[in-house]
Amino acid sequence: MTSDEIRETFLSYFEARGHKRLASGSLVPASYDPSVLLTTAGMHPLKPYFQGIETPPHNRLTSCQKCFRTPDIENVGVTARHLTFFEMLGNFSLGDYFKAGAAEFAWELSLEGFGFSPDDLWVTVFEGDEELGLGPDEEAIAAWEALGVPRERIVLCPRSENFWQAGPTGPCGPCSELYLDRGLQWGTEDDLPGGENERFLEYWNLVFMQYDQSETGVLTPLPSQNIDTGLGLNRMAVIQQGVDTVFDTDQFRPLMELGESLRGGSGRLSDEETTRALRILADHTRGMTFLIADGVVPSNEERGYVLRRLMRRAIAQGRHLGFDQGFLPQYVDAVTETMGAAYPELTAEREAILRWVTSEEESFGRTLEHGLAMLEDVLARGEVTGEEAFQLHDTYGFPIDLTEEIAAERGVPLVRAGFDAARAGQRERSAAAAGGGGRVGA
Ligand code: SER
Repeated sequence: MTSDEIRETFLSYFEARGHKRLASGSLVPASYDPSVLLTTAGMHPLKPYFQGIETPPHNRLTSCQKCFRTPDIENVGVTARHLTFFEMLGNFSLGDYFKAGAAEFAWELSLEGFGFSPDDLWVTVFEGDEELGLGPDEEAIAAWEALGVPRERIVLCPRSENFWQAGPTGPCGPCSELYLDRGLQWGTEDDLPGGENERFLEYWNLVFMQYDQSETGVLTPLPSQNIDTGLGLNRMAVIQQGVDTVFDTDQFRPLMELGESLRGGSGRLSDEETTRALRILADHTRGMTFLIADGVVPSNEERGYVLRRLMRRAIAQGRHLGFDQGFLPQYVDAVTETMGAAYPELTAEREAILRWVTSEEESFGRTLEHGLAMLEDVLARGEVTGEEAFQLHDTYGFPIDLTEEIAAERGVPLVRAGFDAARAGQRERSAAAAGGGGRVGA
C-alpha cells in the first residue's frame, strides 16, 4: 500500500460509515487556541467542537491532518520512526458513538482495510489513576472483549501511557491503543505493548474524550462524550511497505535519493553519520516546506523560531555532508513532487517557499562560517568546554558530532558532559515556552 492508498483507505472507510470528510486544518492553530504553537494532532482544529463552543458540521467527522511535533526535533534521524512533520488520520465522534463504536470501527478497518490478522493485534487500556480519581477503564475492556480480543491481549497501562490531553489544558480523556505484534524476531516473550520494545508497534490511538482539564488540573465532564482517534500515516506505511524505518517508505525515498545524489557517493563521514544526516535533511525539508506553505516565516520567536531551527539544522547537515550551496530548493521541489497532489498549497506557495529557503541558506551559510571562526579560536585555547560546544550548536547550528570530529582531528579534548547539561537546560526552557503536545501518540 502506498501512503496515498493508506490515506484514501482510511478516509473512504469512515466516509462510507456516515463521517464527513474534512480537509486538513493549517499547521498554525487558530488564534483562539494559544495552548500550542503548532498543530500537534488531528483533533486540534476541532477543539471548539469538542468543547461545545461551536457547532460541528456533522457529529461524525474524518480527516487527515498535517501535524508538527517540536519536541521530536532532536530525535529525528536517531530513531527509526520519529518525525517532526507527519500526517495523522482520524475519525471523530461528537456526542455520537463512544467506546464500543470506536473499537468496532478500528477493529474492522484493521482487519479488512489494513489486512492484519486478529491474532497479531493487542490493545492497551487505561488502568486508572488515583490523582485523577478514575478507576480502570472497564467499559473499554468490555468493548474489546465483545469483539473477541482475548483478555490476555488487553493490557492495562498507567496515565503516562493511556490518558491523552491536547495540551496542558482542554479536552482530554483515557485512551486505548492498538498494537501490531511484529513477532519474536523483534523481541522476546516477555515484551508487552506500552513498553519500550520493537516487537509491539503502536499504530492507532483511540481517545475517549470526555473531560475538560482546567489550569489547576481539575477534570470537568465535557458537554458530550466524544471520540478522537489518531493513526500515524507514516507509521502505517512502515508496516504496510514492510520496511524498517519511515525513511524507507514511499514519501521519503525520493528525498533520501536526492541526498545521496547531492553527496555523490563521496564524503569523510561514516555510513552511520551519513544516514543520520540524510534523514535529518529529509524530515526537516518536509517540515519547512509545509510550515512555509501555511504562512510561517523564519524569525527568532515562537513558531518562526521553530522553522528557523529546522532550516539551520538542515543547512548544517547539508554542509556537513559536503553539499554545494543551493540544496534546500532542490529538496523543496522533491517534497512538492511527492506531496503536492495531496496538498495543493505546496504548489500554490512554491515561489514563496523557494524564496525563504534560498535566503536562509545564503545567510546562514555566512553564520556557519562565523561559527567555524569561533571554533578555531576555541581550539587554539586547547580545550572545547561543554558550554562552548553548546553555543556552537545553539547559535551556529553546529551538530555536536561536527564539533567533536573537528576537535578530535586537532587532538583537542571536548567536555561532552557540560554540553548535555547545557542542552537539557535549554530543552526545559523551550518545552515550557512551547506548551505540551500531550503524550506522543500514534
Ligand atoms: N489526539 C490523539 C493523539 O494525538 C488521538 O488522535 O494521539
